[in-house]
Amino acid sequence: AATERFIRAMPKAELHLHLEGTLEADMKFALARRNGIKLPYDTVEAMRASYRYHDLPSFLAIYYSGMDVLRTEADFYDLAYAYLTKAASQNVRYTEMFFDPQEHLKRGVPMAAVIAGITRARGDAAKRLGIGSGLILCFVRDAPLDTAAAALDAALPFKRDLIAVGLDSDEKGHPPRDFAPLFAKARAAGLHLTMHCDLNQENTLEHLRQAIVDLRADRIDHGGNILQSPELVAIARARGLAFTVCPGFSGKVATGGAPIDVVRGMLDQGLAVTISSDDPAYMGSRYVADAIVDAQPVSALTRAELVQIQRNAFNAAWLPPGQRAAYL
Ligand code: HPA
Ligand code: ZN
Repeated sequence: AATERFIRAMPKAELHLHLEGTLEADMKFALARRNGIKLPYDTVEAMRASYRYHDLPSFLAIYYSGMDVLRTEADFYDLAYAYLTKAASQNVRYTEMFFDPQEHLKRGVPMAAVIAGITRARGDAAKRLGIGSGLILCFVRDAPLDTAAAALDAALPFKRDLIAVGLDSDEKGHPPRDFAPLFAKARAAGLHLTMHCDLNQENTLEHLRQAIVDLRADRIDHGGNILQSPELVAIARARGLAFTVCPGFSGKVATGGAPIDVVRGMLDQGLAVTISSDDPAYMGSRYVADAIVDAQPVSALTRAELVQIQRNAFNAAWLPPGQRAAYL
């Protein structure tokens, strides 16, 4: 009703969005046809119905098999332009998008094609739709470490097209510390650092400590388990560290007692919480405005809090100096 209209009309920034997670079933069929690939389902409806998962690994299996149709520069252009069009239609003014190049290199797609397609879409979307964007190279943490190193080396010649490096995929057994040399190399190249610390996996509190204290991440993706550590909360609050929470994916921390609502908990602790959509094509096509509409009653978000969450997002965005004011 009125609150939903308010949410949809707000100028928004989205900071946690996997481009490959915006690959809608109908585009999957179009790209499969264009590239001569046979899909394991015959119809868009059957494909959509197959998006059933119950945890991160079962989600990731569907997500990685889906991206097999992405082969050419044009495919990455179409994927990114479709997302940017959707985001602009939801009053997203600025977005920072993850991509998983190790997966594409593995299939033989050159880094140049991946980055060129996305970068061309970003330019066209900025010009035609007025939406700004940045691109974040994610290390796929459960793939062999040398493939992450190879992806970074292949991407550094294109570093002007990147804003940051991130860390995604299955967290269990893959602490941020393992990537310390790669993060150091990326930072030396002028890139920002962000890392997924997903909910309710093993040692996530220790992973958060490594990301925040040892690696000095500039942002944390998800990170709801921090609410279990007053020490880390104090550090994050003092630093103004932002969290890109995706309530559709990771809304509640299970503590053994009653589950904690992450967005509500972070707001109440004075942390810089933001809300994003994560992988909307695999989450009922709930893009960021939809994700906020869904989260509002769950976390009892007031209008002042909804505005604060967007202010947090624009503040946490890695906009070039001087450009932030144009969005606020
Ligand atoms: N967490 C971890 N890996 C991912 C995610 C996520 O939210 N989305 C795509 N890869
Ligand atoms: Zn994510």
